[in-house]
Amino acid sequence: MRTLLFLLATSLLAQPTQPPGGADRLQWFKDAKFGIFIHWGPYSVLGRHEWARHFFQIPQAEYDQYAKAFNPVNFNANEWTSLFERAGARYVVITSKHHDGFSIYRSKASDYDMEITPYKGDPLKDLSIAAPKHNLRLGFYHSIMDWHHPAYRPRRAWESKTPNEGGNNNLFVDYMKEQLRELLTGYGDVAMIWFDGEWEHTLANLKRDDEVYDYISTLNPNTLINDRLYERKPGNKADFGTPEQFVPATGFNGALWESCVTINTDSWGYNKYETNFKTERDLIRMLVEVTSKGGNLLLNIGPKPDGTIQTDFVTRLEAMGEWLKVNGEAIYGTKASPFTRMPFFGRATQKDANLYLHVFAWPQSGELRVPGLKNLIHSAHLLADPKKTPLAWRRDGADILISVPKTAPDERASVVALRLDGAPTVDPFSIRPNDKGIFSLGIESSEIETRFEQRAKKENALGHVFLTNWTRSDDIPTWNLSIPKAGRYKVEASYAATRSSKDKTFNVHIGNLTTSGKIVETGNAWVFTKQTLGNLNLPAGDHVLQVKITDPQGLPGFSFEGITLVPLP
Ligand code: GLC
Repeated sequence: MRTLLFLLATSLLAQPTQPPGGADRLQWFKDAKFGIFIHWGPYSVLGRHEWARHFFQIPQAEYDQYAKAFNPVNFNANEWTSLFERAGARYVVITSKHHDGFSIYRSKASDYDMEITPYKGDPLKDLSIAAPKHNLRLGFYHSIMDWHHPAYRPRRAWESKTPNEGGNNNLFVDYMKEQLRELLTGYGDVAMIWFDGEWEHTLANLKRDDEVYDYISTLNPNTLINDRLYERKPGNKADFGTPEQFVPATGFNGALWESCVTINTDSWGYNKYETNFKTERDLIRMLVEVTSKGGNLLLNIGPKPDGTIQTDFVTRLEAMGEWLKVNGEAIYGTKASPFTRMPFFGRATQKDANLYLHVFAWPQSGELRVPGLKNLIHSAHLLADPKKTPLAWRRDGADILISVPKTAPDERASVVALRLDGAPTVDPFSIRPNDKGIFSLGIESSEIETRFEQRAKKENALGHVFLTNWTRSDDIPTWNLSIPKAGRYKVEASYAATRSSKDKTFNVHIGNLTTSGKIVETGNAWVFTKQTLGNLNLPAGDHVLQVKITDPQGLPGFSFEGITLVPLP
C-alpha cells in the first residue's frame, strides 16, 4: 500500500498542470528557436549511418551483435547537456527508438533495449535528470516503423521473412502505446514526441493516429507532437511541421515548424567516414534564416557509440553558443521578419518594438538600408558592442539608412538592433530603378525560394555577393521590382562559369514573359561576365522576377551575381 501511495504521489509530481511557457502549451517551443537532435543506438557501433542495417542488408541475428556491443561507458548526461546549454540550445530531442527497433532506455515493454547491452544503464533517465539542470527541455524521437518487432509489417523487402504477411499492426500499435506510456510517465515533463517512419502508413491504415495523439495528451497535455504522426499531411492535430534538411521558403502551410538538419552531409547517426561538416558560419546563418522565417532549428548530432561527441560537432556547437551569447536577444522569443525581401544579404527578426537586422555581407558604403520602415526609431546599436554606442540614421525616401562602422563586428552575422516606437510596420520592398532607369538585381537582394533541400548559397567576398553551389532547379532566386513606366528592357545576366556549366540554359521569368540564355565559359568561377539574354517589353507596375535553371544536372562551377534590366530607347 505504501509503495502504491508513493507511486501515486511521484506520478502526480511528474505531471505538471501548467505548461512551462504559461497558458499556451506551444509558447516555450515558439520562443526556444534552437534545439539539439540526437541519433544514437546500435547503428552508432557500425558508424555508417542509422540506416546501416537496411543499406547493408544485415540479418537480424547479426545486427543483434551490434546492439549487444552498444556500451557507452563514456556517456555523461551532464557533459552532454552542459555542451548543449553552452551551444545556446533550449531543448533536446533524442531517439528513444529508431527504425532498428532498439530502445535506448530500460523498457519493460521490450526485451530489445538497454538491458541486453553490457552497459545496462538508462541514458534517457540520466538525460531527463540532467536536462532541466541545464535549462533544456527533453523530448523523444520515436520511430513508428520498426524493423525488429515481430508483429510489425511490412518487413524489409530483402529479409527472409515474408515482407507483408503474418504481422499484426494492431498489436504493434498497442506495444508502441505502452512504450509511449513508459516514456511519458518515467522521464519527467516530456517536451515532445517526435514521430518518424510514418511512410509505411501503420497508424493511418488502422485509423489510430488520433488515438495515439489523444493518448499522449492524456498522459501529459504539455507534450507536443510532430506532424509525422499524421504522415506530414495538414489538417490534423499535430503541433508542428518537420521540414527535413531544408528551410522552407516562407513559413510552412501557416503552421508552426521546425527544420531538422544534419551538421554533416546526411547521416543522422554517427558516421565514422564523414569528412564534410557545415561551417559554423553556415550554421549560425541557418539559425538566423530559420528564425527570420518564424521556425525552429533542430540541429542533429550523432554521438559515438562510447558516448563521446566528436570534436567536429563540439567546436561548431560551441561557436554557435558564443555567437548566441552576444546575439541571442535577436533570436530567442523573436518572431518572423516583417520583410519579405531585403536589399542586403542578411535577414531580420522582431520582438515587440525591437527590430533586429542580421547582416551577412557588411555594407561597403558604411550605410545599411532598411527598406520601407514606417516607424519612428528611438535608438540603434550593434549587439556586439557592449557599450551600445548609438548608431546614427537618416531617412532616404521610404527607407532608413543606418550608419555603421567600416568593418563587420562578426563576419558570420552581425546584428543591428533598432528600438522603434512600436511593432515594426513596413512597406513591401520592391527594387526601383536608378536615375538612369536601370534595375540592378543583385543576388543579395533576392530570396532563394526552394521546394526541397536548398543547396544554392549566397557567398560574400569583400562585399561582393554571388550565388554558388546552384545545383538544383528548384532553388529559385526571386526579386520584387517596381517598374514606374512601361518600356522595353535589355535583360543581362552577370556570372562566372567554368567549362562544366558551359552551354547549360537558364531562364529569366518576369510574370509570364521569359527570356533564356546559354552559359558561356568565362575561364573560372570568379571571372565575371555580363551576358545579354534578350529584350522584353515590360508593363508598368509591380513584378516578380525569377531565374530558373532548366538543366536538372545543375550548374557546377557557376557563380551567379544577378540580373540587370537596362531600358532601351
Ligand atoms: C530521415 C531518416 C531517418 C532520420 C530522420 C530524421 O527520415 O531516414 O533516419 O531519423 O530523417 O528526420
